[in-house]
Amino acid sequence: VPLPRVLSGIQPTAGSFHLGNHLGALRQWVSLQESTEAFYCVVDLHAITVPQDPAELRRNTLVSAAQLLALGVDPERSTLFVQSHVPEHLQLSWVLECLTGFGEASRMTQFKDKSQREGTSGTTVGLFTYPVLQAADILVYQADQVPVGEDQRQHLELTRDLAIRFNGRYGQTFTVPEAVIPQGAARVMDLQSPDKKMSKSLPPAGCVLLLDEPKVTAKKIRSAVTDTGREIVADPVNKPGVTNLLTMHSELSGRPVAELEERFAGRGYGDLKKELAEVVVDFVTPVRERTQELLDDQAELERILLRGAARAREVAAATVATVYDRVGF
Ligand code: ADP
Ligand code: NA
Repeated sequence: VPLPRVLSGIQPTAGSFHLGNHLGALRQWVSLQESTEAFYCVVDLHAITVPQDPAELRRNTLVSAAQLLALGVDPERSTLFVQSHVPEHLQLSWVLECLTGFGEASRMTQFKDKSQREGTSGTTVGLFTYPVLQAADILVYQADQVPVGEDQRQHLELTRDLAIRFNGRYGQTFTVPEAVIPQGAARVMDLQSPDKKMSKSLPPAGCVLLLDEPKVTAKKIRSAVTDTGREIVADPVNKPGVTNLLTMHSELSGRPVAELEERFAGRGYGDLKKELAEVVVDFVTPVRERTQELLDDQAELERILLRGAARAREVAAATVATVYDRVGF
């Protein structure tokens, strides 16, 4: 029996990933390698839906790929590549755009939110068609499963609708992918506004970057917003700040939250923050060092990515050949 095929992508925009990316997504990328045939890409095409400095984008793409390798994505086992290296994504995307209703695309809530924030003058057509490119990213590999967070569910639904529509109109061509809720994914909240998820779009003080220096990490955690009262207990409603610190500790140290509550009983927030900073630094230090080693040998890193792209293209080109034939090209 062939292993289920998985596709997942991540944007290179921030350079460094954050702890939310790791605990909510990338940790699952690594574990899914065991049980699936995984295709993982750094989605640089998606990044330019908002303006990017070319040199920074190129650098951030490499830094992102290096971090994925440092976190444990194994290029012998998974296909790791950069989206723009595989032009078939775009060839399929155009065909899918011509199957997508304007109204259907207009209903995508992520576009509505983002375009409202930017205003019409700052919104591109690329941002509007982004979910269709995302559908192409998935369908071009005939992926069976897509690990998705809540925020991506609507886009995955569109992907499924487009696959079913194409298959209905032109004959069975695409695997209709299933959303899988990543096993053991944790939601990490911002250190400064623990009612919001940790994000690169929020001010850096609340976001623990994997590539931060240990001093910066410790300072961010020390300055985390905590809650009134003094007790160290998990209580997401009344103590979102402390709960978030406990979650991060538990996820990285592997100790159950209940055990941490017991250990910190009668102690202050400062003690928890100090220990959490150590736990985070212990986790990120080897990742940061390995990332740097990989970046120091850029030629080898680029070779790894080109090998990945070549493997991805074999699959993607076969899909596009069938699609073009079916469409009448
Ligand atoms: P950001 O919000 O920083 O822009 P992305 O939207 O690029 O992050 O997310 C990349 C991946 O990381 C997605 O799979 C997303 O679900 C996951 N992710 C992002 N932020 C968090 C978080 N705070 N907690 C858990 N998972 C997260
Ligand atoms: Na985001």
